Amino acid sequence: MIAQLELEWLGGPAASRFRRRRPGADDLPWGSLAAAAPSLPDEVAAAARASFTDGAFSEYASAAAFAALASALLEAGAPIDLIAMAGDFVVDEMVHVELNARLAMELGGAAPYAVDLDKVAPLVDAALPAIERAAELAVKISCIGEALSVPVLSGSLRAAGHPLVRAVLARLARDEPPHARIGWLILDWAEGRLDAARLAAVAGEALAAYAPLWRQASDDADPAHRRTLGWMDGATYRRALTRAVRERVARPLAARGIAVDTARLDLGEPGEPWRRR
Ligand SMILES: [Fe+2]
Ligand SMILES: [Fe+2]
Repeated sequence: MIAQLELEWLGGPAASRFRRRRPGADDLPWGSLAAAAPSLPDEVAAAARASFTDGAFSEYASAAAFAALASALLEAGAPIDLIAMAGDFVVDEMVHVELNARLAMELGGAAPYAVDLDKVAPLVDAALPAIERAAELAVKISCIGEALSVPVLSGSLRAAGHPLVRAVLARLARDEPPHARIGWLILDWAEGRLDAARLAAVAGEALAAYAPLWRQASDDADPAHRRTLGWMDGATYRRALTRAVRERVARPLAARGIAVDTARLDLGEPGEPWRRR
């Protein structure tokens, strides 16, 4: 069912366990963005609310993705510690949901945002063997999704001016690198038992779905928005993403025999100036 995104907080034993497992969320300078809100131009406040609402949902979807990955790893009889890692990331992502939701609340609450939670988890062919489903989810979620979000988060952190936005981005940037690592651990564990050609097609399609991010990166946003929200300028954003696709995704996939066709992704020339050191 498609409905406005709404998030609840139960409190009591659920909240205290969550806080014990992942301390720190209450220590951020909450209230400071709300205090600054009256001085923000309307369009900046609206863009910020929309961006934090979108952030809350994409973290929620990441939690669903890691839960699906943990299930597939369980069904595949994966190593204990590897399964635990995937399950633990669900909790990380719920912290990120909370942080984004609280940022949106500083500005009056969620922006209009229609979602179908029945479809929040990534789709995989249930007829595939569990190890193939786990590898496919690992590639889409971790080797690609998280690998692309790591440099975007650190770039956003460098760009962000508001202390609360910075504090949230710093927490996210600290938590995410292991999320981008688990995919490679899974591929290496499953080595020799996977259909590399199928995974190459999966990876190519997943990357093509992200391509609008770097194709359409623009400098339209007002610099004041960008500073408040930690949005990188278009060129920096494009560079961070295309470099991540080459160096953090395509290259390590190729090293594992999963050859992705990057020609259709419009990554630009590898010799462009940002690659000169
Ligand atoms: Fe996250
Ligand atoms: Fe993540």
